[in-house]
Amino acid sequence: MNRLTTSSGAYDLTRFPEDPRDRLRAWDAADEYLLRYLDGIDAEPVDLAGTVVVLGDRWGALVTALAAHRPVQITDSFLTQQATRANLARSGAGAGAVRLLSAMDPVPDRIDVLLVRVPKSLALLEDQLHRLAPRLHAGTVVVGTGMVTEIHTSTLTLFERLIGPTRTSLAAKKARLIFSTPAASPVRGDSPWPRTYELPADVGAASGLAVTNHAGIFCADRLDIGTRFFLRNLPRRQGPERVVDLGCGNGVVGTAAALADPGAEVTFVDESYSAVASAEATFRANAGPDAKAEFLVGDGLSSVPAGSVDLVLNNPPFHSHQATTDTTAWSMFTGSRDALRAGGELWVIGNRHLGYHVKLRKLFGNCEVVASDPKFVILRAVKR
Ligand SMILES: C[S@@+](CC[C@H](N)C(=O)[O-])C[C@H]1O[C@@H](n2cnc3c(N)ncnc32)[C@H](O)[C@@H]1O
Repeated sequence: MNRLTTSSGAYDLTRFPEDPRDRLRAWDAADEYLLRYLDGIDAEPVDLAGTVVVLGDRWGALVTALAAHRPVQITDSFLTQQATRANLARSGAGAGAVRLLSAMDPVPDRIDVLLVRVPKSLALLEDQLHRLAPRLHAGTVVVGTGMVTEIHTSTLTLFERLIGPTRTSLAAKKARLIFSTPAASPVRGDSPWPRTYELPADVGAASGLAVTNHAGIFCADRLDIGTRFFLRNLPRRQGPERVVDLGCGNGVVGTAAALADPGAEVTFVDESYSAVASAEATFRANAGPDAKAEFLVGDGLSSVPAGSVDLVLNNPPFHSHQATTDTTAWSMFTGSRDALRAGGELWVIGNRHLGYHVKLRKLFGNCEVVASDPKFVILRAVKR
């Protein structure tokens, strides 16, 4: 746990899942720069009256420090929401001090202050600004913040095009602020999201499927080559069974499993609201409106009952910070072992160099290579 001190107080903040060994802070210089600017330490204080919306707050540091202004947080991440809840509770902010909305929820009707922690995904920023911009008015204060490495010309072009005239501050501790003034009559067009693409013809039961992708999800523009290899080598099973597509993204893996085995009932799980919405759209478009399936936003398999699952299909996340990534894969494998019934199987795809077989053998006492190519390996572990 680390302490963030601002002019409004000191806050003990953590990320989620909370890990006492985790030295990473739950905020960074970009969050501090924005809070300092709002406090008026560098200039006049900003009037935080009316509806304050905070977009892209990573671990809830911004809304916790601004809780007195009863902000609305908009995030695509369930993990962010969990961190925010814990940080708010620890700060003593009363229940309801902050309204938590997901990226898929309807946005507030009128926004007086819009604070944007620039997200990692430009597509998510584009889609969210499309949703929020019509709710701004001439007097809305819009301030963005990000590390210098996260703010590109394309980022500023988005603010300029979707909100109005935009400038940036000087850099401080490698962070920068973005100031936009809502244009009187902007020409924005429609959001290009969600997007649909068609799968190639060589991916088994998923061949030719139309896949829906909301902004910011994994491989929203094209099929990932690892997923493609997974689709070509999915288990061939028949009969009534409960299958989980763990970390489902746009849902291609679980949809392929459901189409290949009509007796299977698939649960799609992801920590991204947009991913789960994409998976639901992909499944419904291909399996039909009445096909049975479950769609869960959550942290891994934490809400799936122990011993209830026959098969888990998993392509773990690998893009984030290495330490975080390893932790997530490990907790997905541990969660799978708990959720599986005796005899149930976990199938995992990963880059060869990630060494998932070591983890699986440690957890399950067995692990076999089902398929491999020069880059990827598909592993199977059975719960004994
Ligand atoms: C490599 S992508 C795989 C997506 C899809 N299954 C595929 O193969 O194309 C990993 C997915 O795991 C999700 N994820 C990351 N951390 C998670 C967590 N703690 N719980 C559930 N899903 C998570 C990400 O949002 C992402 O959609």
